[in-house]
Order: sequence, then C-alpha cells, then structure tokens
Amino acid sequence: MASANPISGSKELGSASAARTKASLAWGAVANIEDLREIAKKRVPRTFFEYVEAGSYDELTLRANRIALDALELRQRVMVDVSSRVQSTTIVGQPALLPVVLAPAGLTGAVYPNGEIHAARAAQSHGVPFCLSTMSVCSIEDVAAAVEKPFWFQLYLMKDRGFSRSLIERAHAAGCPTLVLTMDLHVEGQRTADVHNGLGIPPRLSLANILDIAMHLRWASGMLWSKEYTFGNLKDAIRNSGNLGILSEWVKQQFDPSFERHDVEWVRKLWPGQLIVKGILDPQDAEMAVAAGADAVLISNHGGRQLDGAPSTVKAFPGVRDAVGDRIELLFDSGIRSGLDVLKALALGARACFIGRAYLYGLGAGGEAGVRKALSLISEELDTGMALTGVTDVKAVPRDVIVQ
Ligand code: FNR
Repeated sequence: MASANPISGSKELGSASAARTKASLAWGAVANIEDLREIAKKRVPRTFFEYVEAGSYDELTLRANRIALDALELRQRVMVDVSSRVQSTTIVGQPALLPVVLAPAGLTGAVYPNGEIHAARAAQSHGVPFCLSTMSVCSIEDVAAAVEKPFWFQLYLMKDRGFSRSLIERAHAAGCPTLVLTMDLHVEGQRTADVHNGLGIPPRLSLANILDIAMHLRWASGMLWSKEYTFGNLKDAIRNSGNLGILSEWVKQQFDPSFERHDVEWVRKLWPGQLIVKGILDPQDAEMAVAAGADAVLISNHGGRQLDGAPSTVKAFPGVRDAVGDRIELLFDSGIRSGLDVLKALALGARACFIGRAYLYGLGAGGEAGVRKALSLISEELDTGMALTGVTDVKAVPRDVIVQ
C-alpha cells in the first residue's frame, strides 16, 4: 500500500516494497513514479535531489496538492464497452499522444548531465511536448540542435525587457510553437532545503557539498561532459557569466514584481505562436489572462514552491474553470504523480497536465530512459483508469468520473 509522504508530497511504499527499494531496486522492477524517486535519491547529489523535492516554507501547499488529489474518488463503471481507448489529443492545437507536458524546470541539467536534452528526447519519443525553462542549464540552441521535433519554451519576463525580447526571438528562431509565460515567480518563495544546502544566491560550495558530489561519481563523471555549467540561456546577458554566483545575483535582480496584465499583452504582441499563461489560481487573474490574449491558462501553484498557503490546484481549478473554461483551454499541474492523477485532472475539466517532479525523478534515476519510463508508467496507469471508469477518450472525460 502507498501512503502520502508529508515531505515530498509523493508516495511512500509499504514495508515490503520499502525493504526492496532500500536493497537497490532493479530497473526492470520499477512499478511507479515512487520507485523512480527512490532510485533518483541514490543517484543524484543530495543538494539537487532536495532542490527537486522541496516546496516553499512549511510546504503546506506542497502537501495540500497531494492530499486533494488523493481525496478525489473515481467512479467505477463496468457495464461499458471500453475495448477502444484513445489517449491522443491536442494541447493548444498541437497533437500529443498523451495529455501530458513535461513542465519547465530550472536546473534540469543539474539533476542529470545535459538533462534538458535527455528529457526533450524522451518527450519526443513519447509524442508529448517538452517545455524548456528560461532557467535551464542547456540553452535553447543546445536543445534545438539535439532534437528533431519542436519543443516549447517557458519565459520568466526579466526587468531587462530587451533581454526578454531576445529570449522570445531565440525561442521563435528555434522553432518553438508555444510560449509558456510564468506569472507566479516575480518574487521567489524560499525553499528551506536550498538554503541549508547552499543552493541560494549566491551559491555556497561547502565541504558537505563537495563530499556529496564526490559520493555520486556516476553523476559527477557525466557532468564532465555537460554542454553547460550555468544558466545556458542567460550566459550572454552579462559579462563574467562563467561565474554562477554573479549570474545568479543578476537573475535575482531581474525578477520583476511590476509584471502584470499589460506585460502579458506586450508578450502576446511579440509572440506569433500559442501562448499559455502559467501560475493562475484565481478567476480574476484568469479573466485578465484571457483578455490579454492567452490561448490557455495553466492552473498551477508551481508545485507548492511559491506561495505557501495557496490552495491546492484541485481546489482552485473549479473557480477558474467556471470563469473562463468556455473560452479558453485549461491546463493543470502541481502534484501529479500517476496516470490516475491525470485522469482526475481531466475529469475536473483540464485538457492536459504538466508534470514536474514525476519526470525529474525519472531523469535523475536514468536520464532519457528514466523519463521514458515515467511517461510509460503514466500512460499505462491512465489507460487502466480509463478502462475501469468507462472512459474511452481523453478528450471527453465526463465530470462525473469523480464521485460527487
Ligand atoms: C519547477 N517549476 C518551474 N516552473 C517554471 O515556470 N519555470 C521554472 O524554471 C521552474 N523550475 C522548477 C524546478 C523544479 C525542480 C520544480 C520541481 C518545479 C514548476 C513546474 O513547472 C511545475 O509547475 C511543477 O513542477 C508542477 O508540480 P509537480 O508536478 O512537480 O508536483
């Protein structure tokens, strides 16, 4: 039996499974995202593993996301022909073989060497979008050179609007069809583990960090061949960019608390492709995003990493859906750890889910193969969930799949 882990928001295994994972889980025996998490925990240096796990402050919202998803009950239907089940869909008009997007995550290339490229390749082989973060290690151009299909780009709007414009232009030049504009990080929620581990601004290289890295030789040797060692998209923004401390300080100063609706309109005018506004929890903000020209809103609390005390996305979703759901596509993230979670989000009214940690655990566990494993697990779980709830098409999941 699995139970909610109050710290990670993921699931912990019962005693038999826990004993097995402690004794090193064989790759072929991986049964769920939690198994990938267990492997990643061993393979990724603690500083970066905890960076992935953490929520902000007391992690109330991190936990609320899981608690709310777990509390939703699925309505079992067995008197329905479910011999044909369709997972393919479109997300903001683009085809996807699964209603899932790999969410933007900063420093993915620190979880696994060239992590952004591994994740993008896994997404490509599964026919789902990969969204590259502004704060990635591998740059837009690095990823574009390594994959065949287009990927999405996530933008943090910087105070330096000229630089922001150049990021938008670079994403367009790389063939990205969709821009995800993140609205909920104009100030940074503190993550306690990052402070303790010295992953702050500027970063602190302590003896503990050096020992931690020395104990993860596979990771460290892979890192020797990494394409980048800092924030690849930002390194040209300032001189001395090889210095992570200086670059991090620049980034911190560049987050823009003045950012509001008119800036979304400014981005909308510059961006010719699809525009998703990320970080929406409130119906009024959703209305403003629609008015500014967004093609979709992503109902997200940043995986519990920003406003601690913000509602779970399960709780926030209906308000946004009722306000704008008839005019715009709705996307869901924060807390998704399985295909059954995806099914629940679709039943709430989401077109698709972004997943963050669920694929980052796979990445840390085994690079591209690990992310592919995470996507396969989610697809298989979703398929089983559909069959047992009488759902035959992810594009038409009825609201009453969730027990009222
Ligand atoms: C994130 N997230 C994020 N979002 C964003 O817009 N830009 C970013 O650079 C990052 N960086 C980032 C790093 C890490 C390690 C995590 C876990 C998350 C938030 C991310 O896109 C997504 O909203 C959450 O991860 C969803 O929650 P789950 O699926 O991780 O529970």
